[in-house]
Amino acid sequence: MFNPPKFSGILNSIIKEKSEKSGDDSEARDLIAEDSQPKVNRKFTTFSEHPLFQKISTMRTLAKTFHVEDPFFRQHELLTGAMTRIDGRDYINYSSYNYLGLNNSKEVNEAVIKAVETHGTSVGASRLVAGERPFQRTLEKKLAEVYQAEDAVVFVSGHATNISVISTLFGAKDLIIYDALVHNSIIEGIKLSGSAHFPYLHNDCTSLENLLKKNRQNYERVLVVTEGLFSMDGDVPDLPELIRLKKKYGCFLMIDEAHSLGVLGKTGRGVYEYYGVNPNDVDLWMGTLSKTLASCGGYIAGSQDIIDILKYNAPGFVFSVGMSAPMAAAAETSLSLMLENPERVERLQKNGRLFLETARSFNLNTGKSIGYSVVPIITGSSRKAVWLSAAMFKEGVNVQPIIHPAVEEQQARLRFFITSEHTKEQIVKTCEILSSLCKNEGI
Ligand SMILES: Cc1ncc(COP(=O)(O)O)c(C=O)c1O
Repeated sequence: MFNPPKFSGILNSIIKEKSEKSGDDSEARDLIAEDSQPKVNRKFTTFSEHPLFQKISTMRTLAKTFHVEDPFFRQHELLTGAMTRIDGRDYINYSSYNYLGLNNSKEVNEAVIKAVETHGTSVGASRLVAGERPFQRTLEKKLAEVYQAEDAVVFVSGHATNISVISTLFGAKDLIIYDALVHNSIIEGIKLSGSAHFPYLHNDCTSLENLLKKNRQNYERVLVVTEGLFSMDGDVPDLPELIRLKKKYGCFLMIDEAHSLGVLGKTGRGVYEYYGVNPNDVDLWMGTLSKTLASCGGYIAGSQDIIDILKYNAPGFVFSVGMSAPMAAAAETSLSLMLENPERVERLQKNGRLFLETARSFNLNTGKSIGYSVVPIITGSSRKAVWLSAAMFKEGVNVQPIIHPAVEEQQARLRFFITSEHTKEQIVKTCEILSSLCKNEGI
């Protein structure tokens, strides 16, 4: 058993030492002064002095000192699903969003090959410039049907979808109220919108209502935005209550379904199916093609008005290349497979429950997870999370640590993505290894 290195104190002292050093540099040495040129501090002319780079280089020094392997950017040699191969060794894998095991399925691959043979690999320009292709509208219509919406539009990136859509639809006179734990892409979109914004306590509708009571009348449009299944914690919002509040206060409601499509509800239609509510009570259904749908990109489903505004105005659509044939074919075929094979969804849900129940039976801290596709194991510190991830890797299990600042320091964790393809044996074995490592290290 190797001991978790106690490097947080040392990390701080190295960072301090480095910053003192860069501060020490005499102004005279740092200034580039040529006759008629302005004086520029040399550290602002190179990225090796950028604080973000300095942080990375400190982490690397530290990792080397304590012989901790960098858990990020590992090279996977084959398809990643319930198993993966890294450096010639096979691992049980929990770092893939391939929730329904559709990536590399025969049907998806055949559809992609056919699409490439007909349309090539790129559409070359924005759809506004280059025109439409049949596969884009086919996918959009199918997505709209899932949400019983008037229409849908696809973007080439899920992250860019949130940024572009939120910042296009909302502006300086508007207010955005968001769950405190929403994904970075939503936060970036909110910042770019220039709207006033407040977080409400995670999944706490009382906190949301208090903010609405106090602020609704001071703004024009008000958006409430949250996730259908939280990617870090694996819990779900109270959608019926969110719908009640949005109606009561005259707001728009946006739900990011990145981790719910294919996961929640009997047929994988997501959080509205999970609760049995009318999907038309949500104004903006956002989702990604990169998870269950084995592709790349994002989408919005909603009213025709919203889709028209976005197609003529959202920068991530208007000024970005249209979706390519292979990506659209992969997503469309995956969506059909999801709808035609609810047993895949059922398998995933069974696996999620099994993971949660087994982990809890070993007294592991699974946080707020309700046991679908995302189950965290809270370690309580970034150092322990990095150590536990390295120790699991040695035991043949690949799972990523989530550390500060992605989550609060006490909320550092390992995050397990469960798929329909994991076996009972893999899940039980993983929990046994976890339990024994955590027990030995007091986690
Ligand atoms: C909740 C959520 N929204 C949006 C995104 C961005 O999606 P993509 O990775 O497809 O760009 C992610 C990515 O993981 C996510 O977790």
